[in-house]
Amino acid sequence: MGSLYLKGYFLIRMNDFEKIIENNKDFKKFYKIKRKIFPIEKVVELFPEKGELIDLGCGNGIFPAILSLKHKDLNIIGVDDDEKKIDLAKKTFSELKNLSFVKENIFDFKLKEADIYSLIDVLYLIPFELQIKLIEGIYGKLKTNGKLIIKEMDTTPFYKYLFNIFQESISVKIIHRTIGSKFYFTKSSEYIKLFEKIGFSVQYLRVDKGYLYPHVVYILTKS
Ligand SMILES: C[S@@+](CC[C@H](N)C(=O)[O-])C[C@H]1O[C@@H](n2cnc3c(N)ncnc32)[C@H](O)[C@@H]1O
Repeated sequence: MGSLYLKGYFLIRMNDFEKIIENNKDFKKFYKIKRKIFPIEKVVELFPEKGELIDLGCGNGIFPAILSLKHKDLNIIGVDDDEKKIDLAKKTFSELKNLSFVKENIFDFKLKEADIYSLIDVLYLIPFELQIKLIEGIYGKLKTNGKLIIKEMDTTPFYKYLFNIFQESISVKIIHRTIGSKFYFTKSSEYIKLFEKIGFSVQYLRVDKGYLYPHVVYILTKS
């Protein structure tokens, strides 16, 4: 019961999630670490409760699975081009009827009309020019008042940025846990300028209090 610091409804849903993964040792270990370094509950709280949601670069599906348990009226599709992660996600979360997974590169995936898109720690793996293309494409497919929720690492404060680069170098370049060979971490001021230029209204939130990583969330609304 490591979830005791969480409150009310969210606590119940986290336990449902823990029940689903309880027979998978590797997943349990990964999830235990993830919770220590990533503010899952803070980010989950920022999502709308219903609608069509497409999570691009969903990895092994932890994040969309927690969301789908918390909000039954969300209909979620997770997309990732890492076959192993998608196979694991499909196998582990098959009982969640409002969640499905597609193994595809984000740039081959045919973007469709949706209420919400999310990119959780994905943009930093994509060259900046392609990030722009992707975000413009998502803007075109979002419904009016639809949201694109982006979780990234900021470039400040400097000690958190350095720590993040060090950890990612191990994860991406040495143990190849994540696809990619270069990082494209971008200043929040540059991102905000880009998002506004595309047409979004932008909410910028730091969710890194108590964490060594410079976690930030951009909630972008198409008005
Ligand atoms: C750091 S992981 C984050 C995974 C997940 N969003 C999470 O928060 O747990 C980045 C993910 O993006 C995926 N990814 C990166 N570039 C991609 C692309 N072009 N198409 C599909 N997936 C991509 C990787 O395979 C990886 O699973």
